[in-house]
Amino acid sequence: YRAGRLPGRQDWSSWPHYQAAAAGFRGYWYPVCFSSQVGEKPRPVTLLGERLFVIRDRGRVYGMRDRCPHRGVPLSHGDKQFPGTISCVYHGWTFDLETGVLKAAITDGPGSPICGKVTQPTYDVEERLGLVWVYVGDGERPHPIDEQLPEELVGNPAVVGQRIQARAGNWRFACENGYDEGHAKYLHRTALWRLFKPMPVWNTTSIVRRGRWIYRVQREQFWEADFPGLGRWSGTAWYKARPPRTVQNIGNTASHRRVNPTIAAQEFPGFASVGMPGVLRIVYPTFIHYEFYVPVDAENHLYVGMLADFSRGVRALPFYAKYLGAVRWLFHGQFSGQDKWMVEVTDAPPEKLYRPDDSLLRWRKLAEDTTEERLERLRAGNTD
Ligand code: FES
Repeated sequence: YRAGRLPGRQDWSSWPHYQAAAAGFRGYWYPVCFSSQVGEKPRPVTLLGERLFVIRDRGRVYGMRDRCPHRGVPLSHGDKQFPGTISCVYHGWTFDLETGVLKAAITDGPGSPICGKVTQPTYDVEERLGLVWVYVGDGERPHPIDEQLPEELVGNPAVVGQRIQARAGNWRFACENGYDEGHAKYLHRTALWRLFKPMPVWNTTSIVRRGRWIYRVQREQFWEADFPGLGRWSGTAWYKARPPRTVQNIGNTASHRRVNPTIAAQEFPGFASVGMPGVLRIVYPTFIHYEFYVPVDAENHLYVGMLADFSRGVRALPFYAKYLGAVRWLFHGQFSGQDKWMVEVTDAPPEKLYRPDDSLLRWRKLAEDTTEERLERLRAGNTD
């Protein structure tokens, strides 16, 4: 453990930006739903505590604050009376989807003097990987979404299996749970997924930062351990029929006979990585699993689980069959359901940390440092 000394009782005040981000970090793109779920009718979304709606018009998806400035009725109750606009259901105020400018107040006639004098806040929206992404910031120009997506997903064709689930609990608990080293070994020991993907019971770990991510590098693993005075504990029960070989560097993947060339080309230093604004990446030899923890508000988040396979053409078919027939239920279902449970019942701070929690501390530091850098850029007026 490179970090060595862990502080004692934690109250999160060492990470003021992280502590303040109960409802999420601003200045990022967040996936909010499947592209197929956005049509000609407004779809309400709550993101970082902000109520907005997304709607499709002539193929493109737009986002707008979901509160009519007239009397506060949700605009998502309205509809499109004219192309490129949304009309409030109550008195017919009609806003341009692109600019947010009030184009008509239907009940005040064509010469209504309020037209053009009210502008409804809009959101930048993009579609990638079959998902609709919304940028939540502070008025600055958003960075291109491709700069934020996991780099291997930009420019490399991938087939994906996805699951979106609204979950209770703060998004930080979900993110910390995802990257938490200890729980993978213990909580998930009863997950059916581990019939196929064994995990070690103990190892030595270091956390390294590369670019926008921190990686957990596991160099030594033990499948059984003696606990003096207690006896022997084994993590092998689920997969005794196929004991794991010695595994180095990228967790349980290195002994695999074939590594997908796109994945191999990334030269990931570790099996599990996490990056801003709360995305987990778990690298297997032939596919990558991602979890996006999307803050709805301080008490709720959206779990967006995604498996990406970089096979092409008909080679993608076995992936779909495997995903729909097994992985979706075992991994995005039962395994991930154990995480959901822990996020619901976690109650921190205060907290008393132990050695494997170095993962959590390094993630918080990454969040803290990255946020400070962003705020400095905003203060300097460089909004690119
Ligand atoms: Fe929306 Fe009156 S409340 S038009």
